[in-house]
Amino acid sequence: MEEIRVFCPATIANISCGFDVLGVALDNVGDEMVIRKTKKKGIRITRLEGQDLPLETERNVAGVAGLAFLEASGHQGGFDIEIYKSIKAGSGIGSSAASSAGAVWAMNELLGRPFAPKQLVPFAMLGEKLASEVAHADNVAPALLGGFVLVRSYDPLDMVQIPVPKELHAVVVHPQIEVKTSDSRKILRTSVTLTTAIKQWGNLGGLVAGLFMEDYALIGRSLEDHIVEPIRSILIPGYGEVKSAAMQAGALGCGISGSGPSLFAFAKGQEAALNIAKAMTAVYEPIALDFEVHVSKINPTGVKKISTL
Ligand code: HSE
Repeated sequence: MEEIRVFCPATIANISCGFDVLGVALDNVGDEMVIRKTKKKGIRITRLEGQDLPLETERNVAGVAGLAFLEASGHQGGFDIEIYKSIKAGSGIGSSAASSAGAVWAMNELLGRPFAPKQLVPFAMLGEKLASEVAHADNVAPALLGGFVLVRSYDPLDMVQIPVPKELHAVVVHPQIEVKTSDSRKILRTSVTLTTAIKQWGNLGGLVAGLFMEDYALIGRSLEDHIVEPIRSILIPGYGEVKSAAMQAGALGCGISGSGPSLFAFAKGQEAALNIAKAMTAVYEPIALDFEVHVSKINPTGVKKISTL
């Protein structure tokens, strides 16, 4: 195999109560990439369509993640990377993670899988460090492993894959403003009270238990964020209205996707998800603000092969 084309999924990080430690991969929202083995050493971004992002390897998230992978693999040649972006940068659905994860997953395939999927996460995290100044794993881990992933610990890195309830669907509404993850991290408080922490870890435990038990009501009750949402929601136009529209339309829960400005809602079943999407859309339609809506199942596998040569 000399060349591989892959689908690189969008992801929802944080999922309300799991700031920096929980994320999930989407099924039908994502980018494509083509990675080609070369005799020439090093990594080159040979094509980048859909977004205005750096082409220099050291300034591109896929380039940086790929360089770390290449060095660790000991491979003597190199790779050319083509990136076809559908996910907008600064959308809150893991644009940089899709590129970093896609690059290292594809390179690993081309070299005959020298690394297990979990071992690819640290390489992809370097792309996140370049994009947001912090090597968070809550987008790249689900992008690489699929489904829901809990980052139980960063040092040492310890990730737990969580089963996906069969009927769970995600709705993502992306108001078309750009919020840089690095900026939306700087506005967060660096300490929380014990009272707030108790609420947050109660919800995180509840959410993980709800996912394991396919208990949709428990999942819904646990989708609360007492730490990040009160601050970041200020950056999102109409946040309160869109969230209440989603909840009134039957969402299990609704919150900020990653660092925003996208909002996500979870639903039991596709029909419910489509109704929720409609209700959320109805809030933005009269406002002179462009937005995109996605309704997606959960992606159980992460980055996927489309074709090979
Ligand atoms: N956990 C990260 C943050 C995700 O919220 O800053 C960024 O997509």
